[in-house]
Parts: sequence; C-alpha cells; structure tokens
Amino acid sequence: MAAYAVGLTKRYGTGDTAVTALDNVDVQFAQGQFTAIMGPSGSGKSTLMHCMAGLDAATSGAVFIGDIQLNALDDRRLTRLRRDRIGFIFQAYNLVPTLTALENITLPSDIAGHPIDEQWLSAVVDTLGLRDRLKHRPTELSGGQQQRVACARALAGRPAIIFADEPTGNLDSRTGAEVLSFLRESVRRTGQTIAMVTHDPSAAAYADRVLFLADGRIVDEMVNPNAEAVLERMKAFEADIPHPEVVWADPAPAPVPVGVDPTAVPGPAPVPAPPAPPTPPTPPSTAPVIPPPPIAPPGTPIAPAAPAPATAPAVPPTPPPAPAPAAPGSSNGPVGAASAAARTADGAPDPIDMANWTDADWDAWLARKQSEAGGA
Ligand SMILES: Nc1ncnc2c1ncn2[C@@H]1O[C@H](COP(=O)(O)OP(=O)(O)OP(=O)(O)O)[C@@H](O)[C@H]1O
Ligand SMILES: [Mg+2]
Repeated sequence: MAAYAVGLTKRYGTGDTAVTALDNVDVQFAQGQFTAIMGPSGSGKSTLMHCMAGLDAATSGAVFIGDIQLNALDDRRLTRLRRDRIGFIFQAYNLVPTLTALENITLPSDIAGHPIDEQWLSAVVDTLGLRDRLKHRPTELSGGQQQRVACARALAGRPAIIFADEPTGNLDSRTGAEVLSFLRESVRRTGQTIAMVTHDPSAAAYADRVLFLADGRIVDEMVNPNAEAVLERMKAFEADIPHPEVVWADPAPAPVPVGVDPTAVPGPAPVPAPPAPPTPPTPPSTAPVIPPPPIAPPGTPIAPAAPAPATAPAVPPTPPPAPAPAAPGSSNGPVGAASAAARTADGAPDPIDMANWTDADWDAWLARKQSEAGGA
C-alpha cells in the first residue's frame, strides 16, 4: 500500500463554528494505482489531499505513507518524509517566478541535496514536452506549460505517491488531456501512485478508480470508471443530497499562485498543439470533456501525452451539471496550510511547501544559487 488512512478526521474551528471536513475516513491508495477523488464543493477533497500529504495535521485518526505513520513524526522527520516520498501538484502550480522551468523542476532535489537522476529527469521532461521550455520562467509559459512543469517537479524525485488537487482545473481541455495522459502513463509504465482531485468526469475517467466524497465521508467507489458512468453517479448523489445548493461542478478560479509572486500567473503563450489522434465517434456536446486516449502497448517508452481533439471534444450523451458558484467556505487552494513553511533539519524551508516560503526564504535561496553560479 503506497498510502492509507484509518479513521481520519479533520475538524476546523471549535464550538458552533466547527466544521468537520473529514469524518472518520478510511482510505487506501494501492501502489501503482491512479485514484480520482470527486465530490461536491466543500466535501473535503482538498482537506483529504492535504492531510494525506502531511501538509495539514489530522484532528484524529492515522495517516500512513508506506508503513510510516505521519502523526508519529516530529516536524523535522515529517518534512523529510514529505520531501523524499511525496509529490504534490497544486491547482495554482505554485512555481517560483524567479526560477526557470528546469530550476523549478529540480528545486526539491536541489534543496534536499539529492543528486538528480539525469536520465529520469530527461524522460520526464521529454514526455511532458518541456524540452524547449526549460530556460523559460513561469511568466513566459502558458498555463498548461506551467502545470506540466509542476507535474515534472512532482515526478522528478520519483515520490512514493503524488497527490494532485485539481491539477487540470485551470487548463483548457486539450492541455488538460495532455497532463492527464502523462499522469496516467506514469502510473502504467513506472508504477507511480497518484491520487487526484477533480470535478471533471472525463478527467476522472483517466483513473483506475474514483472515490466519491460527500460531507467529509467516502460514500462510493467506482472501479475502471468512464466519464458517462461517473457523471451518472454524480447526478444520483445530487438527487440524494438534501441541500440543493451543493454543487458538483466548480468554476475554475483564477490561477493565482498561493503565497508567491503574482507575476507567476500563466503567460499568454499558447501551448503548441501536437497533431490530433484519430478520435472515436462520440455524441456531440458543448461540454469541454475529453475521453482518455488509448493506452500504448506495453514495453513502449513513455510517449508524449496524446493530445485530445482540439475542436470536437467528446462527451457523455448527458450534459454535465451547470457550473455554479462554489459553496461558501469551499477552497481549491491549500487548506489550512501553515503560515510559515516547515523547516528541514538544516533550517532550510520545506521544498514541497513553497507556497509558504517567506521573503527571507527566497532571498536566502537565491543568494545561495547566485553564489553557487558565481563559484562555478
Ligand atoms: N482552514 C479552514 N478553516 C475552516 N474551515 C475550513 C478550512 N479549510 C477547509 N474548511 C472547510 O472544510 C470543508 C472541506 O473543505 P475542502 O476545501 O476540503 O473542500 P473541497 O471538497 O476541496 O471543496 P472544493 O471542491 O470547493 O475545492 C469546507 O466546509 C470548508 O469550508
Ligand atoms: Mg478543494
């Protein structure tokens, strides 16, 4: 088991204002499995990702990465475990604006002082189509390219598990399909374990299974999902939910990185579109949903993510629920993240939690980079 939780409960606040974001959740993420997590806004998806990744502490219950229990670790060991075993992809990318794409990708290893596996890095870079973008800074990259850099950063260190909170929420359907294809291929070919929050049934269809959350509980699971079945399941839940204000579809918020320079918003450059593959006939619709592309035969090297059709996105025959405003108090960003970054043993800021780096952290890091560059 790559990661699991037992009786995971997360409560925010106390007394009348207390919110139970996770209510006694038992969940398992098997090695080499791609899990999608779906649920209405406010159902606890981000909280689950953050608690599993050790970015937020559980109120009660236990979280395990491999056989190591997060709650049993002191801050220093927790930081190290996260650095070495966990990748996190934020919806808002959280790239460092002053660094190039390559520097962003290697930042966690760099800070950890781990040698870079150049061969693996090269494969990740090529597969994500970032080779000719490595020297660009985030502002010079499109949203899709930035998200691919964020994916590369999570994958580069070969973490035991990658948690992704709506990694395609800010991407157009074609770019989203590219990122999803890559994530799925990394699961198929390298046994990467991924847990991914999404609102999009078509994105969920890339996964091996879908967990459905409602009111902080796992209420259902679907194995080998397809977009149509996921959508049907979501509608069934909607009918069951006594609060009609609860929404499933969530408009993607502006991609402003959390806690980093706002100049890191996606640049205007469009992602070059690789030639579209042949598409299976599908019913027409207006929704921007894309079916997973076919899986390449085993043994072939990881191929660049198959692009989705640019003009005629395929969708289930039923239209998805109309986008509605997010429920009050819901969040797509890091939930309850500490205001200051966790520290590694040598006092350096936590590379995974870069959203919470202080100005001083950036200054110190950049000074070090500059002195290294000067000395080289
Ligand atoms: N830091 C916090 N303080 C108080 N309440 C919080 C905090 N973070 C989340 N919550 C509450 O916990 C519940 C679950 O939030 P969470 O962000 O996990 O939902 P979500 O399923 O990710 O929603 P969305 O789809 O809108 O991103 C919500 O009711 C939310 O208001
Ligand atoms: Mg969320």
